[in-house]
Amino acid sequence: MPEMLSLRINGATVRVANGTSVSAAMLIAGQPTRISVTGEPRGPVCGMGICFECRAIVNGMPHQRTCQLLCEEGMTVETNR
Ligand code: FES
Repeated sequence: MPEMLSLRINGATVRVANGTSVSAAMLIAGQPTRISVTGEPRGPVCGMGICFECRAIVNGMPHQRTCQLLCEEGMTVETNR
């Protein structure tokens, strides 16, 4: 199992340690997980699957709770707009 892996977040390649959650990777990348209906950038709040603030598009699937997902090699992640 590789110690580091690469994924794409909003088009940029990000390298993170194996075992990093997708929400943490988005924070590392400085990217919001979603944009609110009023246009505000949002990010993870609870980190345990309850608040849904960390929803993003993961491998083309919208509204994925990124705090509940671990990064995988080659994963693509986009801010949920
Ligand atoms: S941070 Fe609250 S559900 Fe993911």
